[in-house]
Amino acid sequence: MKITFYGHACLGIQIKDIHILVDPFITGNEKAAAINIETLKADYILLTHAHQDHILDAEAIAKRTGAVIVSNYEIVLHYQGLGLEGHPMNHGGSWDFEFGTVKYVNAVHTSSFPDGTYGGQPGGFVIEGEHKTIYIAGDTALTMDMKLIPMQTKLDLAILPIGDNFTMGVNDAILASDFVACDKVLGYHFDTFGYIEVDHADAKRKFFDKNKDLMLLDIGESVTL
Ligand code: NI
Ligand code: MN
Repeated sequence: MKITFYGHACLGIQIKDIHILVDPFITGNEKAAAINIETLKADYILLTHAHQDHILDAEAIAKRTGAVIVSNYEIVLHYQGLGLEGHPMNHGGSWDFEFGTVKYVNAVHTSSFPDGTYGGQPGGFVIEGEHKTIYIAGDTALTMDMKLIPMQTKLDLAILPIGDNFTMGVNDAILASDFVACDKVLGYHFDTFGYIEVDHADAKRKFFDKNKDLMLLDIGESVTL
């Protein structure tokens, strides 16, 4: 499983020859100017919630690639209304896709579309493929629901927001990594705009002091599990 950071909360996940794109927000992110949405591969687009900084480029990429949009029922209904392919899920549900299994799990946040319409309830994803399992928390507060995840699965990587203000910050992300029983963390949802700037060295040191590993990838950089 290869994971590429495309800035903010956008991730590319490659499992075998299947390309999954999560929360594409690229053309609105000055820091991701080197990423071209015209060349990104996508067989599936996973959306955690309907906020602009997670869906901005989903429609354009899905139109070009024919990717299937996977999200909560309300978000998928929205994109099906635009003529796009979708697979609706809701919290607690799992589905076996061609690349592996996806479970839509709880997040504590909000989820309106940019025009204010209802975007269902926000979530995160547990993705299992090629004998590796990752948790993508989405935008969320620290929540006790995270403790449910290791009761059923052994994570190889937890992808957690660390930017604070709109989501967990670094200190709560350290607790979240305890809750999900995974000491290997990829931080995301930081530095994109002023409210969520993070001191990288300080964040890494805080994780290190708890015997945990915080990875912060450059935009465009990948990690293989
Ligand atoms: Ni959000
Ligand atoms: Mn966000």
